[in-house]
This record gives sequence, structure tokens and C-alpha cells, in this order.
Amino acid sequence: MTSIADLIAPPSGSLMRRPGFVFGAGTSSYQIEGAAREDGRLESIWDRFCATPGKVLRGENGDVACDHYHRFEQDLDILKHLGVDAYRFSIAWPRVMNEVGQPNERGIDFYKRLLDGMAERGIAAYVTLYHWDLPQHLEDKGGWLNRETAYRFADYADLMTRRLGGGRVTAWATHNEPWCSAYLGYGNGHHAPGLEVPRWGVQAMHHLLLGHGLALPAMRANDPKAQHGIVANVAPGYPLADTPADRDAALLFETYQNRWVLDPLLKGEYPADLWRYWKGCEPLALTGDMDIIRRPIDYLGLNFYSRAVLRSTGPDSIDWVREPDVERTTMDWEVYPQGLQDLLEAFKHEYPNLPPIFITENGMSSADTVEGSGVDDAQRQSYLKRHFAACSRAMDNGVDVRGYFVWSLLDNFEWAFGYERRFGLVHVDFETQQRTLKRSALAYADFLRERAGR
Ligand code: NOJ
Repeated sequence: MTSIADLIAPPSGSLMRRPGFVFGAGTSSYQIEGAAREDGRLESIWDRFCATPGKVLRGENGDVACDHYHRFEQDLDILKHLGVDAYRFSIAWPRVMNEVGQPNERGIDFYKRLLDGMAERGIAAYVTLYHWDLPQHLEDKGGWLNRETAYRFADYADLMTRRLGGGRVTAWATHNEPWCSAYLGYGNGHHAPGLEVPRWGVQAMHHLLLGHGLALPAMRANDPKAQHGIVANVAPGYPLADTPADRDAALLFETYQNRWVLDPLLKGEYPADLWRYWKGCEPLALTGDMDIIRRPIDYLGLNFYSRAVLRSTGPDSIDWVREPDVERTTMDWEVYPQGLQDLLEAFKHEYPNLPPIFITENGMSSADTVEGSGVDDAQRQSYLKRHFAACSRAMDNGVDVRGYFVWSLLDNFEWAFGYERRFGLVHVDFETQQRTLKRSALAYADFLRERAGR
């Protein structure tokens, strides 16, 4: 059979082809596990949100999802077949701790079996602690608006790294995309728990970041050989017109989208410009919080999908412009690979202490259907190839990127959009739970085989 690796592969000579560069695929607990009421799993804010009419497209939920909780062996076999170095997944907090913070052994056992299965197959584990599924009982006490939640998160991180560390996990991440948890969850209500007060979004962010910093010392003590970091969603902003006003709009966007998270983590302060955007919304913070938040991390995970084009609509007021006639995905996100290079190089310049980077998510949704025995997801193949090339260019220009995880291993529950938006390398028929490798997956596997000299 002729190789189809070239449909997707990074350019020849790319630093991404060097030994040691990590290729993987990612998922998250609520999006794939299902088994929402099994083995003592508690209700999460996403169960509650999905049960609230009008919040999720077609009223879908994660009750079954990809049924990964029961099919994880098959999914690990798929990962093995792909030949990835690593798999990024998240732990469902409501599965592993009860209401009074005691371990739920049956839930913990699931992740032990998962990690053992990965070890048997030679797949490294990149584990996220919080990918948005907060236990509902904590939300009932205020969720991330309540400073106490940051301490409960640190307890949870302590328990997980004690029980699941010890060589099984290569890298831990505290949070996935705190921007989404904070702003979409508490600021505009598009995500669970569905609150819609901008200043609450700002306060939730502060407590999420505080929880991250509070968790780090125990994580390091419990699992000293693992790497410890956090994952942020980032996007570059470009001015619509090359005018001072639109350039300022683009800067303000990047402050709200990127610096809001990265400045506290890497500089120990919120960017002053943030309060031009979130006027009068400064969070309540205690002395010393920013020193906790800026505790050193070993790596920074970045999730990259698209860019924004901005125009000014008055002082400190910006508007997202929908560019006509550009390539888009079924999320309606513009495909703009150059943005990845631009952003990585900008971060290197802006943060002299930038830790090594992992692209923890990159991928796209498309309307994939199984035709005959296959799924020819041509746009995804080209999307990934172009983004790999953009990452390679940034590496050529000195950005220290160590790994790249395609989002996602499986078609799954895409939050407020339900099951309609398919991000997987692997197609999932949600009626039968049949998995079908898309052509992008076959090409990825071919590339990884070639790279390994097999
Ligand atoms: C961000 C999130 O981490 C992930 O859960 C989501 O499915 C993808 N990006 C696509 O929106």
C-alpha cells in the first residue's frame, strides 16, 4: 500500500520529526466517558446544565457519550494502532471523591485500569485534573465564585497525584482552559453552570488560577518525576484595518483572550489593560494570591484553533468581524494556520520565562460521514498538515515546542453543541458506538510509523 503519511505530515526536515517530539491525541472525561451514574459518580455541573432546557443543542448530554468508561480497552487499542507517543485525557472529579472529600475507590480504579492499559501499550499519560466537570455539590456552595473551591481543588489534586502518580503519569495539568470555565461558565452562561455576570467570570478566573497555584506544591511532592503545568486556550487577534484604533482593538482582544490567563501565571499580575475591557470588574483577591498563582510550571499547554479579526467601535470597545470568503470549519471558526506561528513567536517575545510549550489541542470539526468503509475527511488532513507546518516554522524561529496533541481522538460531546460537531480522528456512530478511523487517522498512523522507522 502506498503511504498516505504525506496527507498530514510536517514538512521534511521539520524539528517536529526529531526523536523525542511527542505526538498524541486528546479527549476529556465528560465528553467521552458516559456512565454518568455508575460506580458512585456524583452529579457534575455539566449533568445539571445539560438537563436545563435550552442550554445544549437538541437537549443532548454526556450520559452515554462514547461509552468510553466501558470501552476504554478498545479505545486504547486504537491509540496503539495509531502509534501515538502519548494520550491526553482528563479525570472526572465527581467520579473520584465523595461529598466530604473522601476517595471513591471504584472511580479511582477506573483511572488505574486506564493508566495500566496505557503502560502496557507503551503510551505516555498526559492527565488533566479539571476539564470543566465540577462536582455539583461544590457548585451548590458557589462553585468557582467561592474561594473555598480553590482549596477543594488542591485537595483533589493532592489525592490524584498521590494515588495515580508514582511513574504512571508523564505530565499533569491542573486546568484545561480556565478562560472557558470562568468566562463561558460564569460570565456569559454559554457553559455550565450557566451564570451570566461578567464580574463573576472575572472572580471565577481568580479562584481557578488560585486553585492551580495552591495545588502545585502537593502535586510536585507526590509525583516529583512528572511534569506539572496548565493548559490555556489562546488565539491571536488581528486588526481589520491598519489604523491605531483597530490595532488597539486587536491588542485589547489578546489581553482578554490570552493575557488574562498567561500574565497572572507567568508575570504574577493581571494585565492593566484588562480593566479597560472588564471595567470595574477587578476580582477580590488576598495579599499573596498572585505569588501563589505565579508558582513555576514545567510546561505550558496551549490549545489553538483559530484567530479573531477585530475593529474598534469606540474607546475600549471592540467588535469581532466575520471575514467573508475565508475557509471555515463546521464550528464556523476560520482556518488560519499562520496564527499559530504568529502567536507562538509573540509569546516567546512577550514572556522571557515562557516554559516549554505543548500544543495540547489542535484540530477541527467537520460534517464527517462513513461512506462505504471509510471517512475521507480531506479538510481535516489539510488543516492538520498546515498547522503542523506553522508550528514547525515557529520552532525554526526558536520557540521551544515539545509535543502536539490532535483534538480529538474520538468524535464526542462538543459541549453546548452536543454531538453534531465532529472533531475526531475517529468517527463514532453514536447509535451503535461503532468506531471508524477517518482518513486523517490513517494518515497520522502512517506518518508515525514512518517516523519510527517501522
Ligand atoms: C476546547 C476544549 O478543551 C475541548 O473540550 C473542546 O472540545 C475543543 N476545544 C473544541 O471546541
